[in-house]
Amino acid sequence: MAPDPTTGRVLRDSDEGSVAAAATVSLTLRIRRYNPEVADDPWWDEFTVTMEPTDRLLDALHEVKWHQDGTLGLRRSCAHGICGSDAMLINGRNALACKVLVQDVAPKATIEPIRGLPVLKDLIVDMEPFFAGYRSVLPFLINDDGDPERERSQSPEDRHRYDDTTKCILCAACTTSCPIFWGDGEYVGPAAIVNAHRFIFDSRDQGARDRLKILSEKTGVFRCRTTFNCTDACPRGIEVTKAIQEVKRAILFDRF
Ligand code: SF4
Ligand code: FES
Repeated sequence: MAPDPTTGRVLRDSDEGSVAAAATVSLTLRIRRYNPEVADDPWWDEFTVTMEPTDRLLDALHEVKWHQDGTLGLRRSCAHGICGSDAMLINGRNALACKVLVQDVAPKATIEPIRGLPVLKDLIVDMEPFFAGYRSVLPFLINDDGDPERERSQSPEDRHRYDDTTKCILCAACTTSCPIFWGDGEYVGPAAIVNAHRFIFDSRDQGARDRLKILSEKTGVFRCRTTFNCTDACPRGIEVTKAIQEVKRAILFDRF
């Protein structure tokens, strides 16, 4: 017989039905909607779902989409915090819906699309400006020495220099929490700098000068005002602001 997860009391078989009922929570989702085929302006809808406390907010959105309103638009794929496709504004903070527990937001959660990118429909934004910034910093290994006979080896210490920034999943939570990115339209944004950092400090790469030149331009790192929103928003725990500061120093002191 299993103990009650809340009280620790050992349960009798006859208790199990009531425990199953008590182990659910009611969650009201207030969702910002937009569909240019239906209305010119966005509007708000509310849905109430019954969920288990340890369900993810993404499960609650699925419950709405699959059982209440099939027109709700959202992106998701892995449901495990890896693909980066379900970043959204949850109670005013950027997060991945698949990483937020229902018990941490119940009884009510307000859901909006991430900011600073054009909304296509409901929670789906046009990611192209974000990926244009990403592409602009040459986010790939550049090495003109030709193919090596064996792998390009690297010491653990050299690998450690950019370990943190290898964890990026391109979810855009950092970039779309940045007030400079919202207001500017030109700033490449934190995620692009994180992905430049990943190669600038890689001892096997030879493209650092090109990337630093790109990031020293007016769309680059010096637009950053060190608000730390990006670091707070990153679901991978990357020290985004620190990475940006390291790239700034690499430009200023020509050292990387
Ligand atoms: S740095 Fe973090 S928040 Fe920004 S895109 Fe990468 S994983 Fe997402
Ligand atoms: S669905 Fe893949 S990160 Fe959330």
